[in-house]
Amino acid sequence: MRPPILSVSNIEKSFGGIKAVRGVSFDVHKGEILGLIGPNGSGKSTLFNCILGQLVPDAGHVRVNGRNVSGMRPSELNRLGVGRTFQQLSVFPQMSVFDNIILAGQEHRGTMLLRLFGPADAGLAPEAERMISFFRLTHLRDTVAGSLSYGQQKLLDAAMAFMAGPALVLLDEPAGGVNLTMLAHLKERLIAYNAEHDTTFVVIEHTMEFVMSLYTRIIVLAEGAIIAEGTPDEIRSNQTVIDAYLGG
Ligand SMILES: Nc1ncnc2c1ncn2[C@@H]1O[C@H](COP(=O)(O)OP(=O)(O)OP(=O)(O)O)[C@@H](O)[C@H]1O
Ligand SMILES: [Mg+2]
Repeated sequence: MRPPILSVSNIEKSFGGIKAVRGVSFDVHKGEILGLIGPNGSGKSTLFNCILGQLVPDAGHVRVNGRNVSGMRPSELNRLGVGRTFQQLSVFPQMSVFDNIILAGQEHRGTMLLRLFGPADAGLAPEAERMISFFRLTHLRDTVAGSLSYGQQKLLDAAMAFMAGPALVLLDEPAGGVNLTMLAHLKERLIAYNAEHDTTFVVIEHTMEFVMSLYTRIIVLAEGAIIAEGTPDEIRSNQTVIDAYLGG
């Protein structure tokens, strides 16, 4: 049997006296769209940061396709086909949509030599054009990111993560603060990408639109620990989950 595309075991992370993540373990298999939900402050972003090398966990291991990637830098993970978005937008507001996407591609793929001596777009232009078209941003291709709506910027942010040519993408609240039309559009694009490329997603987002019809499986965190795991139907009617949200 193939190893899970992502395997997280016993991750722990504290900030001073606060135990943000307490012994979290889970596996994600190729092609899954896993939802990671939980009340504010339950440790979701910290867990992502431990998985992706932005933070060094106090304990635990992370494997991608069976390979131990604990301690790897985010750029090294990118090269293994792991993309991510942050909870906060990371687009460059003065640059055009196209240039933002090229820059993301260079970060993911380009070596320093390629950046210094290669073509200005490091040969990424065709892929960038494909990504712009896939996310239906063509009419905004030459617009500076700072003048897009917030929802359009979130979409651009997601498109940038896909420039890793990813096998696995972790998205931290990609639909936070966007309107319903944009939300439905993002969901539909993630489903399409998953169907076309068998790309695996782990998504932090508890909007009902995603919970009901995007996720193939859901993990619920509360106070840094997993309190439930199951299908959307199982999670929606799980009393422990309902209590955690009401108490949170
Ligand atoms: N850099 C940090 N320094 C100190 N404490 C932190 C830091 N990052 C997170 N925390 C704390 O760790 C806990 C988990 O925070 P985290 O941001 O991971 O939660 P979250 O589930 O992503 O919340 P939200 O839904 O609000 O995004 C919180 O108590 C938070 O205050
Ligand atoms: Mg968060």
